[in-house]
This record gives sequence, C-alpha cells and structure tokens, in this order.
Amino acid sequence: MTVDKVETYVEGFDELLDGGIPKGSVVLICGTPGTMKTSLAYSIIHSNATNGSKGLFISLEEGRDELVSAMNELGMDELDEESLYILDVGAIRREHKQEEVSKDWFDILSKYIEHRVRESDFGIVGIDSLAALYSLFKLENPRRELFHFFGFLKELGATVLMVSEIPYGKDQLVSFEEDFLADGIFLLRQYEVGETDVQLRIRCVKMRKCKHYQGYLTLMRANDKFMVTRVISE
Ligand SMILES: Nc1ncnc2c1ncn2[C@@H]1O[C@H](COP(=O)(O)OP(=O)(O)O)[C@@H](O)[C@H]1O
Ligand SMILES: [Mg+2]
Repeated sequence: MTVDKVETYVEGFDELLDGGIPKGSVVLICGTPGTMKTSLAYSIIHSNATNGSKGLFISLEEGRDELVSAMNELGMDELDEESLYILDVGAIRREHKQEEVSKDWFDILSKYIEHRVRESDFGIVGIDSLAALYSLFKLENPRRELFHFFGFLKELGATVLMVSEIPYGKDQLVSFEEDFLADGIFLLRQYEVGETDVQLRIRCVKMRKCKHYQGYLTLMRANDKFMVTRVISE
C-alpha cells in the first residue's frame, strides 16, 4: 500500500522522509524560541499553496500583517486568500470581546476551522502555536481537551502542522501528551558549534507510516528556500 505524501519542499528533506509527510497526519513542529518553527510551518504551507494545494494558517501569536511581512523578508510573497488563508485569531478575539468566555472559545475555534476546511477544501492547516492555544483558551482539562482537539483535527482529513514551543532549559518536548497524539514530530534545535557558532538543526523524531531518516540534519534558509544537509560528524 502506498501512502499519499505532502511534500515539505525543503530541499533534500523529502527524500529522507520517503517522499514527504503522509497525507492527513498531525505533525508537531517543536523547538525553543527562535528556531524558525513559524517560518518552517509557513514555508511548507506556502510552497504547497504555490503548487496548487490550498493552505490555512491559523496564527495565534502574530497578527496577519506582522506575519506576512516577516515571511516576505524570508522571500515568501503574499498569496491570495484563495490559496493561502491566514486566520488571525487575535483580530477575531478583538472583534468578539463581548461574548468572550474562554472555554467556549475553543469550541468556536474548532467550529471555525471545520467550517473553513469543509468550505474551501484545504490540504494543509497550520496552527501557530500550541502554547498560545493553551494561554488564550485557558483549558480546564488540557489532556482531555487536547485529545478531543487532535481527534477533531484528524477527522478533518487535512494534514496539520502544529507549532509547539519548548521553553528554554526544558528537556521535555511537549507540555502534555501531544507527542503520543501526534503522528509526526519535527524537532528544531540550535546546536552550538565551537565557541561562537550556532547551527540550526532538524530531526524527524517520529512519523507514522513513513520510513524516515532519524538523525539530525542542518537546516538552512538561503536563496528564498529551506534546505537540509547531513551533519558531518566532527
Ligand atoms: N535566513 C535565515 N537563516 C537563519 N535564521 C534566520 C534567517 N532569517 C531569520 N532567521 C531567524 O529566525 C528567527 C525567527 O523565526 P521564527 O520562525 O519566528 O521562529 P520561532 O517561530 O521558532 O520562534 C529569528 O530569530 C531570526 O533571527
Ligand atoms: Mg513562532
């Protein structure tokens, strides 16, 4: 049985993922602040959008304009809403201040995503970030609510990229049980090289239904694209 794949369009990476991310997977993109999680998630969605697969990017941390201009800096031009729809959750929250009840919000967001995906047939959905989701929605029982949210995301049929921030100094990849619930995990890490240099590395920790390379790869953004190369051991 062959599994349909969603390419990451990160040069050199798809071969090592046996073609890409299995379609319909929920994939966590984990890393400490500044490891280009947002940029990578957006880039995968942007590349797929320019190649004909519609994307939805749900931004909980950055406003739409801020995000678009940061991505523009990295060489990703603004696409029309038909191909890449950015949902600015902060803006929606500001519009609905009156009816704000934290718990219901989670439900409202789920319904909104569902509606959008059904209406527009998005191939990929990005959520940035899980940490913002926790702090904005003050989940009463995170484990349970997350379990339902992941179940809900899987049922959508879209491939989901979930940005997950690891606080500095923590070994734990995730806050609750997201790692068991996710089909795949990409881990981003700043790696100290010598006394002064830092290199950004990526590792596919887990990817269900996929024979993937397990080791760390150097991740670079240059000439308007992401690329990986194998780490040469010192
Ligand atoms: N071409 C590049 N190569 C490497 N790092 C870059 C490049 N352009 C921007 N950055 C770094 O990326 C970081 C921001 O990326 P972002 O995707 O917002 O990270 P995160 O979402 O993980 O916090 C900044 O710290 C910036 O210095
Ligand atoms: Mg970010």
